[in-house]
Order: sequence, then structure tokens, then C-alpha cells
Amino acid sequence: MKRISLISLAMAMTLSMQAKDILVNTPNTSLLLKADEGQPLHVSYYGERIDRVDQVYNAYSLWEHAYPAFGAGCQNVPALSVKHADGNMSTELVYQSDTKVEEPNATLYTITMKDKLYDFWVDVCYRAYTNSDVIETWSVIRNEEKKPVTLLKYASGYMPFRQGDAWVSHQHGSWGAESYIYEEPLQLGAFEVHDVNGTRNAMTNRPNIMISLDGKPRENEGRVIGAVLCWSGPYRITIDTRGQKEHHLIAGISEAHSEYKLKRGETFTTPELAFAYSDEGMGGVSRSYHRWARLNNKVHNGTALRKILLNSWEGVYLNVSQEGMEKMMDGIKELGGELFVMDDGWFGDKYQRSIDNCALGDWVTDTRKLPEGIPALEKAAAERGLKWGIWIEPEMTNTKSELYEKHPDWIVCHPNRTPITGRGGTQLILDMSNPEVQDFVFAVVDNIMQETPNTYYIKWDANFEIQNFGSKYLSGDNQSHLYVDYHLGLRKTLERIRVKYPDLVIQCCSSGGGRVNYGLMPYFDEFWVSDNTDAQQRLFIQWGTSMFFPACAMAQHVSASPNHQTGRVIPLKFRFDVAMTGRLGLEMRPSDLSERELEYAKQAIATYKEIRPIIQQGNQYRILSPYDKTGYASELYITDDKSDAVFFAYKFEHYVDQFRPRFHFAGLDPDATYKLTEICRNGRTDHWEGHAFTGKFLMQQGIEIALNGQFASKVIRLEKQ
Ligand code: DGJ
Repeated sequence: MKRISLISLAMAMTLSMQAKDILVNTPNTSLLLKADEGQPLHVSYYGERIDRVDQVYNAYSLWEHAYPAFGAGCQNVPALSVKHADGNMSTELVYQSDTKVEEPNATLYTITMKDKLYDFWVDVCYRAYTNSDVIETWSVIRNEEKKPVTLLKYASGYMPFRQGDAWVSHQHGSWGAESYIYEEPLQLGAFEVHDVNGTRNAMTNRPNIMISLDGKPRENEGRVIGAVLCWSGPYRITIDTRGQKEHHLIAGISEAHSEYKLKRGETFTTPELAFAYSDEGMGGVSRSYHRWARLNNKVHNGTALRKILLNSWEGVYLNVSQEGMEKMMDGIKELGGELFVMDDGWFGDKYQRSIDNCALGDWVTDTRKLPEGIPALEKAAAERGLKWGIWIEPEMTNTKSELYEKHPDWIVCHPNRTPITGRGGTQLILDMSNPEVQDFVFAVVDNIMQETPNTYYIKWDANFEIQNFGSKYLSGDNQSHLYVDYHLGLRKTLERIRVKYPDLVIQCCSSGGGRVNYGLMPYFDEFWVSDNTDAQQRLFIQWGTSMFFPACAMAQHVSASPNHQTGRVIPLKFRFDVAMTGRLGLEMRPSDLSERELEYAKQAIATYKEIRPIIQQGNQYRILSPYDKTGYASELYITDDKSDAVFFAYKFEHYVDQFRPRFHFAGLDPDATYKLTEICRNGRTDHWEGHAFTGKFLMQQGIEIALNGQFASKVIRLEKQ
């Protein structure tokens, strides 16, 4: 990979006349590749849709290897690095052939490359969607050399960009504070986000970034490229910035501690790296990912409306009982809820799950707590017109469990080491690279479904990271396969579950949002955004999460006040208004609400049912960011045809003589007229109530909204006249 001089550019142009252009198009974006026999594959352009490639060649000199391999002409960070069977560390991939296949919602381009000397092959793949502006790329690496080769690095893809003032937006967090947004200009040198957790790769750094090409990131303006790695294990996203601001993005499975051997005839398929481009700012890129996720099952069953549930965790924690569960069911039924989910604490025979240090793996009902068993609870829910759901943590065990006593060899840990334990001082991880463990985990779900076939929902938790690197299943030679094989094993198991139970709703939870990634979401209908249910902090967490994930996948629960994580006291209306921007739920004992609060909650749930399709299946416009430190936030959800929208305005800080923003709208049809009605109302009527405005006026001039005091919020319905 090199910047080419004018002379070499001229040569390249001559060459391009004989070479083949591969134009990978989505409705509004294009990626231009150039393939030529005996030459590396090149990438020349990624951005707004182009139909004439000559314009690109005449305008730009960007001319980089599309999948750079180490050791023969690659000057930057490589995507691929291989130790060949004879010890040669260099790889020189050249174009052989390509295919183009039409799929239901996409076109798949496969460009086959081979090492000039070795029988070593790489298919570089691009899938361009027709229903969203997303292009996925990945590689299929095949060893036909006589002996095993070792993959030292095997990234999913590469993208060069060379623009003036480029900034990166990434997300970082910790337990209870996931997905906070950080923005910084790309400086000379390297920028990197990576994960080393082992099981849950989204708790700290998230495997997705955005690059704003026109200076400081803006929500609804400017050219932005998004990159999302569809992988659940350790990963690395690097942007190498060189002289004159050439940026080289490489993203894939982390190569750290993960050398991967391929025997003759074996292939390795890297996870998809999904790119999106928009000239409508970060919001444009987010909306593309939301659409892609919903319409292409990147979130399982992405177009289905999600039900309103009550989860028992913050209500009773581990103290589940037959009577307690039924009381909670009564509560959610009265409020208009649709589903009841019993969380942790229901299982264990020899060891009773009354504290969190035992029984994971012993998935039998604790009949001391639930004498009539799970079928009776499922029946009790049905009698109340509610669906039934249950919590599991199937990849985990405890040293205090019958499972561990029976299968000590099933855990993730090197055979020579004494395991270091997690939660409760006893938690361990089952080794998903082991097919016997995969069968066991499959059976956890299968047994639940056999015993209570009407189970509608499963919450799948995962609360420990890999601290004991090593596998008792993998051979000594293949220990470095653990991180990858764990996640391939997990995926295989989830695939099997999905084949048998396609309609089962499954939530992806990992101490909150530890596993919010597109490696797992194709198997899960939703994820638990965070264990932190404080509405003020949730504004930030949810805002960050929505950068890449659609509202239908974001589980957002109204919990008790004072909040259990922060102790903050927040009015019920504000808590509802914050939780409503995703899949609404409750996580409290309804019996703790006052009569007035119960009445408000009932009305709010009834209103949510009306606006649910707009939020869960509409297009989101983030407008006033809570990160801008004004103490306000606002956002809007609108249907595809722009006829129906819901606007949320929040005030979460309060000072004397505080700045009062004009609330602008976004994403409306400028020529249409919209009538404004406040919904979920709990206070004074504003002067715009019931009046109609043009979309143009609402977007350009905006309106004043009376938000008095801290934790004031309003929800406005906009209906096209
Ligand atoms: C962690 C989850 O994030 C919580 O919601 C809850 O399910 C607990 N685990 C149960 O142990």
C-alpha cells in the first residue's frame, strides 16, 4: 500500500483501462473496487452513490489494497498476516476471479484472491444491501498448502479514507454506565478500540465507531462513515493515521493470544464488518444501521413489535416465591402489561440460589421456593392474560453446583491451573469450544421449552469474563483458539436454538449491556441496555446505545424511586418518558406505587401501545444531545412515510436563569402540516397544543416547550394533516 506519485498514478490510470471496475452500490452509497489479473484488489472510493466511475478516477488518487496482507508491498497495518507452512511470513494476494450473486435484499460480490506463490486463497466478500445503506465485508481464508498455516492476524476488512478534519466517535463504559460517547480528532499515529474481556465485548469499549469527515461530529449534518464489527469476542479496531492525514481503518477479531491454525483444506470465515456512509451526520449513519438491523434480522425478528413486560429482578432480587411472583403478575396485568419475566433465583436443588454464589448449571426448579413448579407459574400468567418468561445464565456455573461437581473438566481454565472465580467468589465459565458443553447449553433451553412449551421469553445472562485462559478440551497446540472457538461454539449453539425455536423471544443480557454487539444480536430479539435504571443516567446510556442499535432491541425499564443504583429520586412521568424510547418494561413491585402513580402508569402504558409502532419500527432523529451539557435532551421517532411522529423533550438539570432552548424538530416532511398534541400529559398545557405547523417551520424555527424544574419532560405526537 503506498501513496502513488503522479507518474505511478498515470501508470495506474493506464492499467485501470484494462482492469475491471466492481461498483458495489446501496441505494445511496457506493464502494468502488478495481480488480486486475495478477494484481492485488484495490479500493478507490467509498461515499455517496456514484454512477460514473471515471469521475472518481479523475478526481482522486486514493488507491489502496482492499485487503492488505503483510510482507509483500504492505506498508501500513495489515488486515491479514500469515505464517505459511514453510515458515515464510509474507503473503502476496492477487486477483483470480469474481462473482456477483443477487440475494433477496442484497447483492453479494466475492472476489477470489490467491497468493502468488502458495496454494493459499482468500475470498474477499462484500454484501451491499438494497433496503439500507450498509455494505458488509469479510474474508474467507482457505489453506491448500500441504501443511498447516498459522493465521497471525485475520481482520474482517479494511477501509482507507483521506479527508481533511476527521474525527472519531466511539463508546466506552463500565458496569451501570455503558456506551458513553467519546469524540476526538484523528491525530497522526494510531487510534484503537479493543476488547480483552473474553465473553462480553461491549461492556467497556464497543465494537463500533463512527468517523466524521467534516470536523467535529454533528448529529444531522456532515459526511460520516460507520464501522460495526459483527463479533462477540475480543476484537480490535485500528485507525492508522499517516502523514498528510491518510487514515487506514482495520477491524476484526483481535489477534492477541489468538493465533489460529488452519490445516490443509480448512477455511476460516472472518465475521462481517458492516460499513455505513451518510451525508446526514451521525444520525444518518445510525438510521442506516437501525434499518439494516430491523429489516435483515441483524436483530432477531427485527420487524416484530416487542411486548411490554415486568421483570422481577429489582422488585424481589433472588427472593422469588410462588406468592410473590403471582402478586407481581397481578400488578402488571392491572397496568396493561403483556408479559411477566421471572429473573434469577428460581433454581437449584442441592444448592439453593438464595445468594448469588451457587447453583448456576443446576437448572431445576427450587421447589422450596416454588412448590408447584414452573408450569404452574406459566399457567398463572396465562390465566391473567400474560405471556411467561424466565431467566437463565446457561454458559456459567459455580464451584458450588452439582454441575461442576459432575463436570469439573467443562470449565474455561487451563488443566494445570486452579481457577480464579468471579461473582459470589464461585462463578466459572463453561467452555463453549467443547461440543459436550454446547449440547448442555442447548439442552438448558430445550428442557425449559419441553417442560413449559408456552414459554414466550428467555432472558439469557452472562456475568463473568474469561480470567482463566485455557481449555481442557482444546489440544495443547490449539490453546490459542480458545477466544475464537468459544464464540463460534456459542454461535453454533444459538443457531441450533433458533432453528428449533424461531419464535421464542430471547433477551441478550450480560450484567446489563455487556454483550450489545451485532455478533450476537441476530440470535436475540433485544438486549438489556444497562443494569442502571436511573432515568437521568439512562438518557446518556440510551443515547449512546442508539448510535448503532434500533429502539426495538433496547430493553428499557421503569424502576422504583429512589433508584436502586444511584439513590436518585425521579418522578414517575420522567422515568416513563425516558423508558418509552425503546422496548418499554417495568422492573419494580407495582404494589409499591401509590394510587395516583398506578393511574398514571396505566395511562402511560396505554399510550405507549399506541405509539409503539412509531418508536420500535420508525426512524430515530436525535436532536438535542444530553452530552452537550445544556441539561436538556430531545429526540424524535417518525414513520417511513413521515405521517406520524413522536417527539420527546427532557430537562434533567435545573438552575436559576438557565438557558432555555428553542426545540427544533428533525426528519419531518418540510411541506407537510403537522398537528401537535401532548401525550402522557401530567401538567400545564403549552400554547402550541392542538395547533398545526408546517414541517419546515418546526424544523427551522422550532417551538418553545415549558419544562419547569429538574426532571420535567414532555412527549408530543405529530400527526400529518
Ligand atoms: C445481571 C443482570 O444484568 C440483571 O438484570 C439480573 O438479571 C442479574 N444478573 C441476576 O443475577
